[in-house]
Amino acid sequence: MERSIAVIDFGSQYTQLIVRRIRELGYFAKLWQPDELRSVEKPAAVILSGGPRSTLEEDAPDIDFEYLRGMEVPILGVCYGMQLLNLKYGGEVAPGHTREYGPATLVPVEKGGLFEGLSERSQIWMSHSDTVSKLPEGAKVLAENLDAVPVALQWDDEVFGIQFHPEVTHSDEGTKVLQNFLKLAKDPLEFKIDSFKDYLLKKVKQDVGDRKVVCGVSGGVDSSVLAALLHEAGVDARFIFVDMGLLRKNEAADVQTLFDSIGIEIDTIDASEMYLSALAGVEDPEEKRRIIGRLFVKVFFDAVGDDVQLLAQGTLYPDVIESATSGSMASTIKTHHNRVDKIMELKEQGRILEPLDELFKDEVRALGKVLGLPAEVVGRHPFPGPGLAVRCPGAITFERLEIIRGADAIFIEVLRQRDWYDRVWQAYAGLIPVKTVGVKGDERSYEFAVNLRAVVSEDAMTAKWVHLPYELLEEVSTRILNEVPGVNRVLYDISSKPPASIEWE
Ligand code: XMP
Repeated sequence: MERSIAVIDFGSQYTQLIVRRIRELGYFAKLWQPDELRSVEKPAAVILSGGPRSTLEEDAPDIDFEYLRGMEVPILGVCYGMQLLNLKYGGEVAPGHTREYGPATLVPVEKGGLFEGLSERSQIWMSHSDTVSKLPEGAKVLAENLDAVPVALQWDDEVFGIQFHPEVTHSDEGTKVLQNFLKLAKDPLEFKIDSFKDYLLKKVKQDVGDRKVVCGVSGGVDSSVLAALLHEAGVDARFIFVDMGLLRKNEAADVQTLFDSIGIEIDTIDASEMYLSALAGVEDPEEKRRIIGRLFVKVFFDAVGDDVQLLAQGTLYPDVIESATSGSMASTIKTHHNRVDKIMELKEQGRILEPLDELFKDEVRALGKVLGLPAEVVGRHPFPGPGLAVRCPGAITFERLEIIRGADAIFIEVLRQRDWYDRVWQAYAGLIPVKTVGVKGDERSYEFAVNLRAVVSEDAMTAKWVHLPYELLEEVSTRILNEVPGVNRVLYDISSKPPASIEWE
């Protein structure tokens, strides 16, 4: 897409965040690998990201500097990007012996330009080891730290470098620095979800033409937004919902109601018995995933038959970025479904449609909203592809799944009633497959325990357990113990990720 802000990825863990911040500021930004520079069409500005490597290493990631300068757009180097630019302009970089990681103080020397409107002092976030040791002639220091070490430079008209990370929230006024830089961008494309919806609708129509599309739906945010988009675009699409018997309480009916309400017809395939018998007696989590994946391919493609001309998938931008950086196509695919071989085959034939692949999760939610999906749908917590199978360690049986369904429904209901649902990233009840002794009425019981899990997270890579109020936990526990047969204990999981994971399998 023309006139977007091109962010060149040198591998920093924060690079995606730069893209997100720019989009939050209302401009369209995309991530590119350094060797893709020549494919970036007419960017409005270029940002060179940070990275874990040293510019002094022999095979350090590089950029075609002449080409970059020839683009005649504003350039901002962040961290590694700044060191690289300093070298390119003829300055020097010295190896650091320790990594500076953490907060520092920014003291702007030049008050205008990049630092327009910034405080005299503000906190910035550092993460680097090498430092700029000699400036080339003509370079200007725009800001320093408290020890008068330069942390922001300008080498040329509209070419800047900053040693800190403006994209992380620990840099108090980082967003302002980005905003000031973006003021210089050449005719940048605005990013507003309404206009992006129109662009996507046009693109979907064009890409599909008169081909037939097949799309799997699950009731989750991504596939629901994808379905709404295809529907609105008016393409010839068929929607398939595979009920693996691993859904939450009433979920199959809820999915049906949702799609009825937006006027989309879905084919539901009840494969629950097939799944339960295939999973009977299987305790190994990897084996469970393999079985679930294999069966999904079979059930889905049996239902589709041979007339699949295009398969639509709800792949999001982070999946694409991850695959570009890891260099593996396979990771763009939600591997839990183990559809890799089949998908790869379709991909090679140009028969995969992934219209959401430029969007982050929160943008997909915003798109869902403007496409008219109900707030409860776009605000839903993520739900894993293998469903309750990853919340039921040990053997999976119908009875155990029923315990999870009962407990989970109560937990979620109370979270909603107490206004906690939208404040957590993900919450659920799972089964602890250990029976212990308890007392019910006058009798001893010997029953399972249930675990409650609620976490906050930005990207599911890390997560923190949520400090839910004791009163809420008490209400949930009392109701589960009274209302769900087969349970005599409720525990709250206070493990963060890492080292724990979000799911329990
Ligand atoms: P973990 O348990 O790995 O979960 O901390 C991270 C996030 O991913 C979800 N999850 C999955 N999603 N297929 C999916 O589509 C899967 O196999 C799968 N396993 C975990 C999980 O719900 C959480 O949001």
